[in-house]
Amino acid sequence: MKAIIYYFSATGNSLKVARDLAQELNGAVVYPVTKALKENQDESYNALGIVFPVYMFGLPLIIVDFLKYIKVRPGAYFFSVATLGGLPGRAHSLAKKILCKRDIKLAAGFSVLMPGNYTPLYGAIPNEQQEKMFTNEKNKIKNIAEYVRLQKRVTIEEKPFLINLLLYKLLYWAGSRTIPDSDKGFWINDACTKCGLCEKVCPVANIRLKEGRPEWLHNCQHCMACLQWCPVEAIQYKKSTSGKKRYRHPLITAQDITGQR
Ligand SMILES: Cc1cc2nc3c(=O)[nH]c(=O)nc-3n(C[C@H](O)[C@H](O)[C@H](O)COP(=O)(O)O)c2cc1C
Repeated sequence: MKAIIYYFSATGNSLKVARDLAQELNGAVVYPVTKALKENQDESYNALGIVFPVYMFGLPLIIVDFLKYIKVRPGAYFFSVATLGGLPGRAHSLAKKILCKRDIKLAAGFSVLMPGNYTPLYGAIPNEQQEKMFTNEKNKIKNIAEYVRLQKRVTIEEKPFLINLLLYKLLYWAGSRTIPDSDKGFWINDACTKCGLCEKVCPVANIRLKEGRPEWLHNCQHCMACLQWCPVEAIQYKKSTSGKKRYRHPLITAQDITGQR
């Protein structure tokens, strides 16, 4: 089986899942969505996975774009893997709908619980709890790899159905179009050392430096990479992130995230 796993990741959860899955699948290719969107695609893969974080109970906008763009060989096994802090909403269903319009079948949609990274609402969970989630993630990835090897068609994992549907309708359906401009809420405090890491880790090049300090360009994915990777926690979002513990996957580096571009 020739397999490729595409990913989009701000704080490393989705990248770690993509790497672990690739390892279980005997060295499948791991490739960033951000780069794939700019290139012609190799259509020789017979298994394709896409790993992404759930945003507002739906899909990151860049994943929507990618699903409209990706080239898939007829008959290939195509699956999605969502990483999430609590509930998947309708992320897989939305992916399925977009693909269906292009006559591509989503064979399976897996959901993997990971530490949440939405600092405007909550700080990072304690390290011991994170470790438990990482152990569960390893087991879950083994199961997913088994399904992929057997090319099984599986019901998409979006339970409980009604709550996920309601949250999706309330938040994503209504709010997703405001995401590109949501960076107007970011600001920096006096701790900024002008190191420029925020500009490098932004997966979609939405930050430019002016006299060493970040300026956001209003093409944001709202992924929080800039805020999470700032080494001195100078980047804040509105009034809700000061003093909240930041989150980054402990086995993923800033270079891994900058490598997406
Ligand atoms: C803008 C935003 C919205 C999010 N919305 C959800 C959500 O609706 N449901 C959920 O379970 N987690 C949500 N999360 C948490 C992430 O999906 C989760 O932490 C994910 O694993 C992060 O992946 P990454 O480290 O690869 O970026 C959200 C995070 C962000 C930044």
